[in-house]
Formats: sequence, structure tokens, C-alpha cells
Amino acid sequence: MAEFKTIGVLGLGHVGLPTAVGFAELGYQVIGTDSDAKKVETIAQGKSPFYEPELEPLLQKNLAAGRFRVTSDVGEAVRASDILFVCVGTPQRPDGSADLSQVEAVIRTVAENLNGYKLIVEKSTVPVQTAQWIKRTLIRYAGSNATFDVASNPEFLREGTAVHDFFHPDRIVIGVESERAKEWLLELYRPLNAPVVVTDLNTAEIIKHAANSFLALKISFINMVADLCEATGADVVKVAEGIGLDPRIGKHFLQAGVGYGGYCLPKDLKAFIHIAEEHNVDFSLLKEVERINEARVDRFVRKVQKALWVLKDKTLAIWGLAFKPNTDDIREAPSLKIIRRLLDEGANLRLYDPAAMANVRQVFPEDSPRLVYCQSALKAATGAHAILLVTEWDEFKQMDWNWLRQVVALPIVIDGRNCLDPARLQEAGFEYYGMGRPSIAPAQVVGVSSG
Ligand code: UDX
Repeated sequence: MAEFKTIGVLGLGHVGLPTAVGFAELGYQVIGTDSDAKKVETIAQGKSPFYEPELEPLLQKNLAAGRFRVTSDVGEAVRASDILFVCVGTPQRPDGSADLSQVEAVIRTVAENLNGYKLIVEKSTVPVQTAQWIKRTLIRYAGSNATFDVASNPEFLREGTAVHDFFHPDRIVIGVESERAKEWLLELYRPLNAPVVVTDLNTAEIIKHAANSFLALKISFINMVADLCEATGADVVKVAEGIGLDPRIGKHFLQAGVGYGGYCLPKDLKAFIHIAEEHNVDFSLLKEVERINEARVDRFVRKVQKALWVLKDKTLAIWGLAFKPNTDDIREAPSLKIIRRLLDEGANLRLYDPAAMANVRQVFPEDSPRLVYCQSALKAATGAHAILLVTEWDEFKQMDWNWLRQVVALPIVIDGRNCLDPARLQEAGFEYYGMGRPSIAPAQVVGVSSG
């Protein structure tokens, strides 16, 4: 039986908070901390600082049960814990490398507060060999007599399904250097009954970067194929189905569209390329993945131009602003680049997203009549010359197109995620343009390339 009692979670962001609450729900005593005192206060009141389905009720339940508590005193959390999960941010630096200053800062605080053996687990996504630096830093600041182990336990949970992913992981990766670290982590995760990969520290770190880079590669691959489909009249949705049924390929992450965004894939890919370059390893394959992704927004905007000819003074509804559904996160969201490009073209935009509008408002304040935030998809579509679907929220798939046909100025839809049924739209009298699938344009415009 393991000897640990309390789990400390350092950093309560999109990874740290679901992890902390998840461990509490499994029955462990958990203490969470963050350098942002306002965030800690919000969480203490049972509120999640960001939108994540299922998280808030679980947070409230575990706060009330006394299994989870938060403090803004990082040192207190360190002293109170046996296992410490490092979940602080590792943002991107201008050169693409990971900024590890938050990791270093929190590790120094750990060193200053070591009051006995602790297992320090790196969960933030970091470049290979970071755990070695963590060890070196702990010895430097806590002295060579300090007793601790460092482990790497990368997190694979996705935003929007973080709570579900915590309780149902495909696998748990544990990079360790000691039996005690291994036993503690195996014990900790036993209730989840998931496959476990036990390995060394460097390997665990590479697994995380390799996983996210491979997902990005799959997306760019299908986007590349989508362009050929578009040029030849084939349907990329069917191509994805046809290749995805091969278990060696797999059906997930083959959805062509405006490209990947979010806080992880773009940043992790850059950091992986950067660390490879530092070690003189040729990662040009991944540079192509990035290049293909960066070209998606341009392709989408050109598609809008082809459908509408002139964009100046056209009113465009933009459905979906978050980088993907079920989150309010807009970091690296394709929507932001699309909005900027369309404003530059002189279009008037009517924006709607079920969760992310408050965040987008901070980037694009509603200070001009050319940019209007709307309370529903229907309101955004009202008077629009085209509906641009950028994020595939479920509610967009369930719209009443006959009703929409009555409110739009022109019945044109550009589906940046291939998530709508072209036949249904056609029935309702809409022109439909997807990403790598045949367009549906009315007879009178046949002959005009609809690409
Ligand atoms: C990702 C990883 O999936 C997760 O394992 C890791 O822990 C964190 O990074 P997340 O950033 O939450 O998770 O989003 P994900 O679901 O992976 O989607 C990333 C981006 O790819 C989104 O912009 C999404 O719209 C896009 N995407 C995804 C596609 O364009 N096509 C697809 O087929 C799948």
C-alpha cells in the first residue's frame, strides 16, 4: 500500500484543475494552488475560471466534501503534499521553443519548501530533458541531501472533454527513475484501470510531443488530400471514411477544414521542431505540417471570395469562434485570423459562438458597426449574404435551414468544418461550399468555378 496521503497540484489551468478535481473525485486529498490569486479565489467559490463541461459540478462536490481545497500560497501546498503535480503553463517563445520559466519558478518554490520526501511529477507539456533540469534545479536550491523523485506523467486530456478524458484515459504514461516513484504512480492511477506505459523520463517527455505532433500531421495530411479532392471533384469526407476504416490508419483526426488551433497542437509542434533542431535532427516533415495548416485560413477566405465575388460591404455571419466545440478557448483559433482577413476585405461581420464570445470581444471590441456580436446563430444569419461555419458546435448541425432561408439575404453557406449535410441545405435552397467536397451551387452559376 502506498504511503502518500496528499496530492498537490501546482497550476490550475485547463490541465491542472480537471486533474486536481479528478483525483479528489477518486477519493484522494488534493490541494491546488496557482500564482494567480484571483483564479484561486474563483475556484474556492466553486466556479471554474474557464468553460469546461462537467467540471464545475464536480469541483463544487469535492470542495463541499473537503477532499479538494485551494490556496494561493504555493509553499503551503508544497509542504502539505506528498506528490506534487506540476501543471503550470509552458507558453511559446518567439523562436518557437517552450518558455520554461514558470516551471523553473515553481520548482524553486518546491525546493524552498521541501519538508521531507516528495514525488514531483511533471505534467505540463515540456521538451525532452526538462525533468533532468528539474532534478538539477531541486538539488541546486534544496541541497544534495534533499529527498525527492522526479517523474514525468504527460497529460493527454482534451479541452471540452477534459473530465471525461481524466476518468477514461486511453493510456497512462509514467516516466520514472525509482521504484518508489513507479509504485506511487501506479497506485494513484489504479482506480482508472487504464493501460500503463512505464518508461524513463526522456521517453515519457517525447511521447507527449510525438502524440500531439502526430495528431497535427494527420490533420494536415487530410487537409492536403482535401485540396486534391476539391480540384478533382472528389469528396474528402468519403476519402477519410474509406481510409479511416483501416485500423492501421484509424478514423479519428481526419476531419478536413480550416485547420487545427488551440493551445496545444500548434505550440507543441513548434517546440518539438525546435528541440529536434537543437539536437541536429531533421524534422522538416513537421515543418510541412505547420505550413499546410497555416495555409488553411487563406484557402477558406479565398473560398468565401469565390462564392461572393466582392467582399466589401457584404454581411457575413460567422458561426463558431472557439478553436473547437465545447470550449470557450480561442487561443490560436482559426476564427481570429479569418475575422481579421474579412475585416481587411471590408466585410461586415455578425459573430456568434455559444461560449467564446466574451473572449473574442477582448481581441475585437464591438466598437464599429462592421462587427456585431449576436445572441444566437439565427440572429447572426439574419440579413447575411453568407453563413461561414468555422467551429462545428452541435447546435449548428441541428439548425432549421428552411427557417434560415427566410432570414438570410442570400442563401450561401461556407462550411469550414464539413459538418453540415449538403443535401439538406440544397433542399432548403442553399448554395453549399465545403472544404474538399463537391460544392452545391444553383444552376445559373454553373460554369463559374466554385472551388
Ligand atoms: C490536444 C490533444 O488532442 C490532447 O491529447 C492534448 O492533451 C492537448 O492537445 P486539444 O488542444 O484540446 O487537445 O484539442 P484537439 O481535440 O486535439 O483538437 C485540436 C485542433 O485540431 C482543433 O482546432 C480541432 O478543431 C482540430 N481538428 C481536430 C481538426 O481540424 N480535424 C480533426 O480531425 C481533429
